[in-house]
Amino acid sequence: MSIGGYNELNLHNRNTEIQPSAYQFQSARAALYAYLNATKIKTLYVPNYICDSIFPALRALSVEIKFYSVNEQLLPIDYPKLTKKSDSRILLVNYFGLLNEQIKTLTAIEPGLFIVDNSQALFCEHIEGTTSIYSPRKFLGIPDGGFLRTAEKISVPETRYDASENVGHLLLRAAGDVKAGYARFLSAEEALECFIPKRMSVISAHLIKCAGINAIKEKRQRNYRLLYTEFKSFNQLDLPIDNQVPLCYPLQLAFDITSICNEFITKSIYLPRYWRSDFNGDVGRAMYENTLFIPIDERISSDELKNLIKLIKNKL
Ligand SMILES: Cc1ncc(COP(=O)(O)O)c(C=O)c1O
Repeated sequence: MSIGGYNELNLHNRNTEIQPSAYQFQSARAALYAYLNATKIKTLYVPNYICDSIFPALRALSVEIKFYSVNEQLLPIDYPKLTKKSDSRILLVNYFGLLNEQIKTLTAIEPGLFIVDNSQALFCEHIEGTTSIYSPRKFLGIPDGGFLRTAEKISVPETRYDASENVGHLLLRAAGDVKAGYARFLSAEEALECFIPKRMSVISAHLIKCAGINAIKEKRQRNYRLLYTEFKSFNQLDLPIDNQVPLCYPLQLAFDITSICNEFITKSIYLPRYWRSDFNGDVGRAMYENTLFIPIDERISSDELKNLIKLIKNKL
């Protein structure tokens, strides 16, 4: 404890815990690297719709990448049958945090063969016997973080990630200076391209303790349910929420949404695109080209969401 001296941000420590028994790293990429390095896995089967950011870590370990296809429900169609002793693993992505049950079913018989990528599903429980990775900064205002749950013994890195130069965007955004924050956000993300595992920063560890996750979960679920009802008859995807806590609401249309996204930027509405990749199959291409990913996080007021719904409906 220290007394007196320079001042600090007034944050309320609620002792929030998320995945308390996970190994903690600076990113999901680093978590994946740590697992693959420890287990000497030689081949990883990955879906042909995925964020390319994990590939450099795989290449650095000379892990062979083999693609399998996903169908319109974003579920695997053709990965091989592996045996327990295999030095291959299958990566399943819990897209947008909306496939918890399906992933449970897929991993039920031979859980040890699967790595569940919960980078978009922070609040999805780890399935015993599988390995899972998480990326908490997609759901929380923290500068870094990546969790690994696995039965394998993983050595914890000595060095901690230093996020002190990479928190400015969170403060600028909170203060309403979104434009100035964006440049800093990009450089904070760039700093995470180095996947050599470090322990999660003290800043992120503390900010997680201060997060009010019940309100965050409830708001995300409420917003998703509203969007699901409003767009049910337009959406080419049908991804029910059940009790899940999604990342966003994916609205797939029958046309390219690039011009909508560009127009929305001029109105200060920033919709992400998931993911531009040379490895996308047909389903991945439709996800990237024709799908609006509508934010549902706790910052959006119900008036803002209703206005956004109106704006989108005007385009349909
Ligand atoms: C499905 C998926 N897996 C892994 C990652 C990598 O997460 P991180 O940026 O924490 O390394 C991402 C990042 O966008 C992702 O969307």
